[in-house]
Amino acid sequence: MIASMRAPKMIINVNIEFLAKDSGKAAERGDLIIVIDALRCCSSIVTALANGAEAIIPVKTLREAYEIHARNPNYLLAGERGGLKPKGFNLGNSPLEYTRERVHGKTIVLTTTSGTAAITRSRKSRWIIIGSFLNAKYAAEKAFAISRAENVNISIVQSGTKGKFSLEDFICAGAIIARLPQSAIKLSDAALASLLAFKHVENDLYAAIIRSEHSRKLMELGFTDDIKFSCQMDLFHVAPIYRDGKIIKGGSVAPEV
Ligand code: MLT
Repeated sequence: MIASMRAPKMIINVNIEFLAKDSGKAAERGDLIIVIDALRCCSSIVTALANGAEAIIPVKTLREAYEIHARNPNYLLAGERGGLKPKGFNLGNSPLEYTRERVHGKTIVLTTTSGTAAITRSRKSRWIIIGSFLNAKYAAEKAFAISRAENVNISIVQSGTKGKFSLEDFICAGAIIARLPQSAIKLSDAALASLLAFKHVENDLYAAIIRSEHSRKLMELGFTDDIKFSCQMDLFHVAPIYRDGKIIKGGSVAPEV
């Protein structure tokens, strides 16, 4: 009897790196990377692209940001240090600032304390998607479609806060994992822990997220509305892709889902 020709079912491994410094390990494994900085960098990026920004150029240092802006004065200069808008910047790091009126058709140079550093650190991976609560469903769908097409595993890289683990990124990783097809993935213990944590708090996400250290700092600075906004699940249908130094809305460089 001829053996069945059916291809074996492909299972995608899903792992988490708790710290941005370990994004290189994920890239070395050849994994697709989803970078998360739920508060607030990735939420600002997702909001900007959903509101028609042409591209975001993430950079690590203020100096790089000023230099790129000096060469391209039509770009918007955006980001934060200590949570606040640096001198001479057009926009801070509040997703609420990235309105259609401000960003449509614009290229934005963005530098934040942890988020843009994590994104640029992940650049050795061939596939890098920007994730947040705001686009969890679409980021998961896009990541799964690419992983299956390219036969690679998924690593979620948490930006964290100043090099430390952050609760909001951990719960956001769980939100994205919850939106992957469960029968087609195998979770590491770290990934499973984040899924369980998300499931535990998903009915009142905001109440859980405001307890995090970074949320408390943002509240002290008067950014409570940013936390509320960033805790909305699946608000935007965008899965930003970072490639060749730019983040774009996705589509042209990734298989459609
Ligand atoms: C970061 O990238 O460190 C954060 O987005 C900081 C912030 O919330 O402004």
